[in-house]
Amino acid sequence: MLYSNIVKASRAMPKRALSNDLFIKEYNIDTNSEWVETMTGIKQRYFVEDVSELNQLACQAASEVSSEIKVDGIIVASSTSGYHFPGISQIVHKYLDLDKHARAIDVNVACNGFMIALSIADSWIKHEGLENVIVIGAEAMSSILDMSDRSTCCLFGDGAGAVLLSKSNERGFVSFDHMVLSQRCDTLVAKKHIEMNGRAVFENSIKAFEEVILNALVKACKSVEDVDLFVLHQANARIFKSLAKQMCLDESKIPFFAANFANTSAATIPMALSLSDFENKTVVLAGFGAGFTTTAGVLSYAGI
Ligand code: ACO
Repeated sequence: MLYSNIVKASRAMPKRALSNDLFIKEYNIDTNSEWVETMTGIKQRYFVEDVSELNQLACQAASEVSSEIKVDGIIVASSTSGYHFPGISQIVHKYLDLDKHARAIDVNVACNGFMIALSIADSWIKHEGLENVIVIGAEAMSSILDMSDRSTCCLFGDGAGAVLLSKSNERGFVSFDHMVLSQRCDTLVAKKHIEMNGRAVFENSIKAFEEVILNALVKACKSVEDVDLFVLHQANARIFKSLAKQMCLDESKIPFFAANFANTSAATIPMALSLSDFENKTVVLAGFGAGFTTTAGVLSYAGI
C-alpha cells in the first residue's frame, strides 16, 4: 500500500512578540491579561510588521523541512496573504528554486485550511505519483483584526508552519473525514475584519471535532483508545478541556501550544506538530473553522 507520511515539521514566527500585557497596552484594549488567559489559555502572540512578511515566514518554514529532497509540490493554506495573486505557494516555489513541473497552489479555507491542504497533498501522493509535497499554513491574522472588538482581537496571532509529506509504504494517513456545516457559515465572518459569535463557535467546535474525529477513526478501523496524540486546531484551551471531558480523553493527549502563539488559523496545526513528538505514534489531526468546515486525518502504521 502507498501512504503519505508526515516526516518533518517546522515553524517560523515574526520577530515581534506581544505578551497579553504588552498587547493590551499597545492597542489600548478594554480588557485585562487575566481575563484573556483564563478564558482562552493565551498568554502571548506574534504580529508581523507588515503582511508581506508572511511570504518570508512561509519560505523560512518550507526551507527547514525541504533540505536535500526533491520537492514535487507545495500547497499553502492561508486566508490572510494580503495578495489576490500570486499565491504564497508560488513565492515559495521561486524561493526554493523548484523545477517548473513542481506544483504550487494556495487554498483559502480559514482555520481548517491546513487540513484541506494536507488531504489534497495526500491525494497527489497516493493517486498522482508525487513523492514529496510541502504543506504550509501561513497567516497574518493581525491584518484582519478589529482592535476595538475585545471579544475577537485578543484571540489571534501571526505565524507560519510547514510539514514535509512524503511517500511511504509503511506509515501515513490511513483515513480522512470532512464535514461542511454550512448552516452556521454566518457565525464567523471576515469581510474587512473578523466578526464572530464566540459562544456559537465554542459549542459547535466541540461537537464538530468529536464527530469528525470519530468518523475518521471508524474509517481507519481504530478507536479513540488507539490514539497516542491528538494534534488539533489551536484556538482556545477551554475548547480542548471540554472536548477531553466529552470524549473521555486524557487531557495530556490533546496538547495546547497556542498559549505562546494565540490562534494562527491555518498555521496552528503545523506549528503544533513542530513542537510535538509525533514519530512512531498513532496521531489524529483535526481542524475546525469558518464555514464551518472540519476535517480529521488519522496518521498511523499500516495494518496496526
Ligand atoms: N475582556 C473582557 N471581557 C470580555 C472580553 C475581553 N477580552 N471579550 C468579551 N468579554 C465580555 C463580553 O463583553 C460579555 O460581557 P457582557 O456580559 O457584559 O456583555 C462577556 O464577556 C461574555 O461575552 P461572551 O461572548 O458571551 O463570552 P464567552 O463566555 O462566550 O467567552 C470567548 C468569549 C472567550 C471568545 C469564547 O466565546 C470563546 O472562546 N469562543 C471560541 C472562539 C474562538 O476561539 N474562536 C477562534 C476563531 S474560530 C476557530 O479558530 C475555530
